[in-house]
Amino acid sequence: MLVGILGGGQLGQMLALAGLPLGIRCRTLDPASNPPAALAAETVRGDFGDPEALHRFRQGLDLVTYEWESVPLATVEALAANLPVYPSPAALGVAQDRLYEKTLFQQLAIPTPGFATVDSREDLNKGLKALGLPAVLKTRRLGYDGKGQFVIRDHAEADAAWATLGSVPLILEQFIQFDREVSLLAVRDRQGTAAFYPLVENRHRDGILRLSLAPASGWTPQRQAAAEAYGRRLLDALQYVGVLATEFFEKDGQLLANEMAPRVHNSGHWTIEGAVTSQFENHLRAVLGLPLGATAALGSWAMLNLLGTTPPLAALLAEPTARVHLYGKAPAPARKLGHVTLPLPEDPAEREQRLSRLLSSVSADS
Ligand SMILES: Nc1ncnc2c1ncn2[C@@H]1O[C@H](COP(=O)(O)OP(=O)(O)O)[C@@H](O)[C@H]1O
Ligand SMILES: [Mg+2]
Repeated sequence: MLVGILGGGQLGQMLALAGLPLGIRCRTLDPASNPPAALAAETVRGDFGDPEALHRFRQGLDLVTYEWESVPLATVEALAANLPVYPSPAALGVAQDRLYEKTLFQQLAIPTPGFATVDSREDLNKGLKALGLPAVLKTRRLGYDGKGQFVIRDHAEADAAWATLGSVPLILEQFIQFDREVSLLAVRDRQGTAAFYPLVENRHRDGILRLSLAPASGWTPQRQAAAEAYGRRLLDALQYVGVLATEFFEKDGQLLANEMAPRVHNSGHWTIEGAVTSQFENHLRAVLGLPLGATAALGSWAMLNLLGTTPPLAALLAEPTARVHLYGKAPAPARKLGHVTLPLPEDPAEREQRLSRLLSSVSADS
């Protein structure tokens, strides 16, 4: 079986690695000459809009999936004319635009922060009036790791926000003073069977995921059930096949959907060691029409992203229970270079100790 993956980043690398023991091979398409996935998959170098590269990419593939949600929709639709593509181009189209995403949440009665479309300075004023302050102005498309966002705390900041972002279609959102951020990793197979991982707690720094805790602290069966009900609505409405990640703000015990990613997700990396079946393997199983694997967590886990720099390998491995993943990327400020997964003890005090040891084992700027 040969699976084509659009995008050759670390998500593609981990998808390809998950396929190896199952006899599933992957081929990625990426504009970079030596993307992370090249360590584990055949790679075709080329732009996503280059017909010649796409021709080489699709030869002999059983199906196509993607690991980057900003891949041009036209490319995915063109591939879908000749090959199965999962998740569907329709699902991708929704996830590429924050306005479509939040509109879908609303249609499915999934609570979401108040929002308004902003196509002009006047729209921005109206939106701020309707939603109140603080608010967040975001580009509808192409944002990631907190890029393309501007928090507006007072009316003077509206001018600065407009000057920075005003040239593209925007969405204005209520700023939520959340208690924590959580994500739900869901997977649905071609027959419509769905499975869910336990809710993950996500702590960001400067808009970038820094630390995930699985299961989320304060996890309850009720909160899990609420998240799964929302997740199931999304999966079924989109006739979704593959892994879908939905990010929520948790406030006063309620979940508000922030965004979704139509792919495997950084907050699911702990599942490689921490769940019966990893998100990567389950994504491959789903898109290939194979039975899904169990999603239960094997205890509690922390996952720490290595951002910008990586400490010496020996320092990371000095913690004997740490599982280290380095993606083979060149260092750059705030770039995701790898991650470390660590089992957590049940005792809360011991857990904090273990966590602070993990955090101090990676350098201050990582
Ligand atoms: N409406 C909001 N209220 C409060 N915090 C927000 C809001 N929108 C985004 N954030 C913060 O910024 C982070 C990144 O925003 P997000 O919408 O997830 O975009 P992306 O992850 O695509 O960059 C969120 O995880 C959250 O910490
Ligand atoms: Mg996000």
